[in-house]
Order: sequence, then structure tokens, then C-alpha cells
Amino acid sequence: ETVTALIVAAGSGTRMGSDTPKQYRRLGAKPLLRHAVEALARHPRVDAVRVVIGAGQEDPAREALAGLDVGDLVTGGKERADSVRAGLEACADGIVLIHDAARPFCPPAVVDRLIDALSKADGAVPVLPMADTVAKGDSELRGTVNRTQLLRVQTPQAFHKSDLVYAYEEAGRGTPTDESTVMQHAGLKVATVPGDESLHKLTTANDWERAEMMLAAQMI
Ligand code: CTP
Ligand code: MG
Repeated sequence: ETVTALIVAAGSGTRMGSDTPKQYRRLGAKPLLRHAVEALARHPRVDAVRVVIGAGQEDPAREALAGLDVGDLVTGGKERADSVRAGLEACADGIVLIHDAARPFCPPAVVDRLIDALSKADGAVPVLPMADTVAKGDSELRGTVNRTQLLRVQTPQAFHKSDLVYAYEEAGRGTPTDESTVMQHAGLKVATVPGDESLHKLTTANDWERAEMMLAAQMI
């Protein structure tokens, strides 16, 4: 079965607070987007990579991806889900791995676990447990939540393209933050596999500094 990695990079990076969108900023030697694309492109079970970019971002995207085979760039939409829907049209039938450009490091073992898990479920996602105490609240606490039943869900997320297209059709409008949400909503079964701390998403300036340090210390 063909495996296509779909990297979504059409966001504006508001929470990072940098001048250029974070996916085009250099992390160590390469733009963030290039790290994410290369991490999946070099996996032996990944057959093709496709990339979704923001309208008008062709120049920085082409520069960041120079020399990599990603086919035609796809233009994304307002919400992440819009970008994924657009990108799915550029993916071959078979398995799709939906991944955030904001996650530069992807251990190959995670990709293997995801693809293997698809033999027993409609989808598979990498997860990690919560380490901190988790509570509801605002300026005061309004109840601690039992964290043993909570998971942090990462990307890449693996599905059969046809199932994910169906799930997005069922979802209608709405702003899900990932595909596992959409799949569950459509009644499909999503398996969990162990995630990895290195898959952490770079959302804030603090995340960026941490990733720079990990690269510099050759922890990645
Ligand atoms: N993304 C996308 N299209 C959108 C919004 C987000 O392709 N309309 C992508 C981002 O480029 C990123 C991933 O989805 O790779 C995860 O989103 P997030 O970390 O929230 O990135 P941004 O939306 O760019 O950042 P922010 O929410 O801080 O503006
Ligand atoms: Mg966002």
C-alpha cells in the first residue's frame, strides 16, 4: 500500500511571535519545514511527501524545500482542518500520515508503530501521558482531573485516505485541532501507539529555544 506523508505548513505562527512564519525560520541549519519534511521523506516506508502552504508563500516554501521531491505545493486554508482537506486531494489512495510542519523531529520507530497499528484499527496516533497535575480552573482551581485517563496526542497520525476523507465529510464545518478528533466523531476506531518527547510541537518562543538547544547538544 502506498504511504503518503502530508505536511501541513499553512499556519501563521501567531503564538511564536516571530516576524516570519515559524515554518520558514531556520532551526539550526535548516528551516523548520525542511526538518519536518526530511524526517518523513527519509523513512523507508514513506513513498511520497506532499506539503500544504499558505496562500502567497510559494517563494519561502520553494526555498525551504529546494531539492526535495514534494510534488506540486498545495494551498491551504483558514483553519488547520481546511489545510488538511486541501492536501488530501493531492495524496494517492492508500495510507496517509498527516503531520505538522511545526514538529521538526520524528523518530522513525514512531512511523513504523503507526503504520503497523493500522492493521488493527482505522487510524493510529502517537500519544504520551500527562506528567503534571491537571485541573480545571481560571483564577482559582475548580477541580483536579484524573490525569491517568488523559493523553497528549501528537502527529504524525496515520489513516487510510478513504476513511479520513469520509470522516471529514461527516464532520461538516468545525475546527478540530487534529484528525483523530474527526475520526472519532465519525465513529471510527483510532489506536494509540507510544509517542515521543522529540515530537513536541514548536508553538511558543520557549519551545523554539528548547529545540535549538536539543539540536546544538546533538540530542536529535
Ligand atoms: N496549519 C495549517 N493551516 C492552518 C493552520 C495551521 O496548515 N490554517 C499548520 C501549521 O502550519 C502547523 C500545524 O498546522 O504546522 C499546527 O498548527 P500550529 O502549531 O497551531 O501553527 P500555527 O497555526 O501556524 O500557529 P498559531 O496557532 O500560533 O498561529
Ligand atoms: Mg494554529
